Amino acid sequence: MIQIPKGCKDVLPSQAYLWHHIEETARETARRYAFYEIRTPVFEHTELFARGVGDTTDIVNKEMYTFLDKGGRSVTLRPEGTAGVARAFSEHGLAGGVLPFKAYYLVSAFRYERPQAGRLREFHQFGAELYGAAGAAADAETISFADAFLKNLGLKDVALHINSIGCKHCRAQYHRALKEYFAPHLDELCEDCRTRYEKNPMRMLDCKAEGCKRLAAGAPEMLDYLCEDCRAHFEQVNRLLGDAGVAFTVDPGIVRGLDYYSRTVFEFVSDAAGAQGTVLGGGRYDTLLEQLGGKSVPAVGFAAGMERLLMVMEAEHCLPAADAGPACYLAGMDAPSRQKAFLLAEALRRVGIACEVDLMERSIKAQFKYADKTGARFVAVLGERELAEGAAEMKDMKTSCSERVKFEELANYLQGRI
Ligand code: HAM
Repeated sequence: MIQIPKGCKDVLPSQAYLWHHIEETARETARRYAFYEIRTPVFEHTELFARGVGDTTDIVNKEMYTFLDKGGRSVTLRPEGTAGVARAFSEHGLAGGVLPFKAYYLVSAFRYERPQAGRLREFHQFGAELYGAAGAAADAETISFADAFLKNLGLKDVALHINSIGCKHCRAQYHRALKEYFAPHLDELCEDCRTRYEKNPMRMLDCKAEGCKRLAAGAPEMLDYLCEDCRAHFEQVNRLLGDAGVAFTVDPGIVRGLDYYSRTVFEFVSDAAGAQGTVLGGGRYDTLLEQLGGKSVPAVGFAAGMERLLMVMEAEHCLPAADAGPACYLAGMDAPSRQKAFLLAEALRRVGIACEVDLMERSIKAQFKYADKTGARFVAVLGERELAEGAAEMKDMKTSCSERVKFEELANYLQGRI
């Protein structure tokens, strides 16, 4: 038998309610913050991610699902949602429309990573992007939205870490300081970090290799190099979050794994989210739209990994209860009763009542067993006598009490009890 590709997961019907719960919580939180859904293609021109996510990132260098289509064009399955939204925003001229533009998405994303707990090759993100607002209030609203989403899921032990990585002016100075610090240790760095040293020194701080991590711990911190504007912006974000009751820690170690960020960056972390620990990450990215060839528009956003959310929800015991079964199972004792059950079920469905009938020609006992397994709230039994009387023997599966209900009363009876 052919098996599922490595790093992918099926969601079986018995688990789908968990996903619905996260998706509904995401949509409801987005509604409260007035973010509206955007849908973009699952694949884009490869260049979008190369230019957007950045060519010094692991995502672009090692992890993209890139292929030539039959027309010889290089396309890539989206490794994240931000670049596609930025492209759509520019392509539809939305910078000339109502600002701020606030959009959210629920998407699958693809990264060719080494699979482990909380790290998949196909995973799912709930993300949000806010365009057009340069002030600290936009950062604070976006972070507060992310925080509210996690709280609405019932999570308590997820900690918010925030940092500022400055703008291109102050970061240039910081990069010089980093290079000075790492220069005497070049031969202790991993191969990737030696490239990062030349191309994007800050990315060295995010390296998972033990030797690099040890060196990174003593490296200069971006917060000491922020220019006046970036410092004021960061202080204002902190103040707004504090006033709004959003708990956070300033963590100079947060640099993010994508190149488009400037100023505020943040991650929500949990010990229960697998090896990486980050459930949700984001930040400000004021230069991305221009970098993609559009107008210069300030932007901020986040994305949460839904598989990691599920892991954390399980660890924190806040998974919801499974969906209830159908309202009614209509059991038939013989062929004419089964036929009647089929027709009654159709009539009930038409008025919105979930019900089931026997499709397997099972004995009445086996039908009861099946109804019980599916969690049916009532079982309506039909036999020769019931057909003659025009009434079903209705059994309440919770109380085990039974009563006669006329066929034409079935809908009212069930609607009054479910
Ligand atoms: P990211 O940090 O690469 O940021 O991903 C966001 C979240 O997606 C992570 O915190 C994690 O929960 C989940 N995630 C990432 N990779 C995997 C994986 N291989 N398996 C399972 N879950 C994963 C972004 O994608 C940015 N686009 C976020 C953003 C939006 N920044 C601004 N706007």
